[in-house]
Amino acid sequence: MNHRFIDIHSHIIFGADDGAESLKEAIELLKLDREEGAYAVFATPHYGMENGFAPDAAGVMRNFELLKERAAEEVPEVKLYLGTEWYCSWDLGDRVHRRDAFRMNDTDYVLAEFLEYGGIYEPWEKISCNLLELKNRGFRPVLAHAERYAAMQEDWNRLKELREQGILMQVNAYDLELNSSLKTKNLARWLAKERMISFIGSDMHGTRPGKRRPRLKEGIRWLYENTNEAYADAVAFGNAEKLFIRKEE
Ligand SMILES: [Fe+2]
Repeated sequence: MNHRFIDIHSHIIFGADDGAESLKEAIELLKLDREEGAYAVFATPHYGMENGFAPDAAGVMRNFELLKERAAEEVPEVKLYLGTEWYCSWDLGDRVHRRDAFRMNDTDYVLAEFLEYGGIYEPWEKISCNLLELKNRGFRPVLAHAERYAAMQEDWNRLKELREQGILMQVNAYDLELNSSLKTKNLARWLAKERMISFIGSDMHGTRPGKRRPRLKEGIRWLYENTNEAYADAVAFGNAEKLFIRKEE
């Protein structure tokens, strides 16, 4: 049987970014995620002028509500929450304050990413500086797919430094077991062994060819087999329950 988990990173709001293109595709993704073991999913569309995505907050909210309505009928076992994968600019704190997009379920937690594709790799100094600036503004940064950045793969201790300064880490569960890039997989596994991962996600983008589907169960199994049950439970669902969801209960 698959382990149950909360997926805190997904691109299932149709029309918001490069993720799902339709309500139908979003529902297909949710069904696949449920089969992997998800019982709650955070919709986290990209936001940031620098990466080409600046969806209007009211439109995102509208499509999120439509998705929630349909999901309640078709995938009732999965609860949905709203967040954003923010591009981590130097002034991200202002953007969050202005409510240009969404925090994790309206908490102080902010999922933040840096550019890492098409030959663009952001320097360590910028990554560190922008995350700490966000934290100094009173928010709680969660670094999205911490294992994927070249700056961190070059020197794993940089992530330790960030963690010691209060930056939390999300890892794509896929990278713990299935990723064929050893650089990414080895770093993801080291983060687990050092107990530095707080959350996991699918980062699912679509069911169309070339889009990332949810593939988590193998990575989560690796986590349970190679750490301990209390830690694996915290990463799979406990931390997200405690930090993002509990306030509703
Ligand atoms: Fe993402």
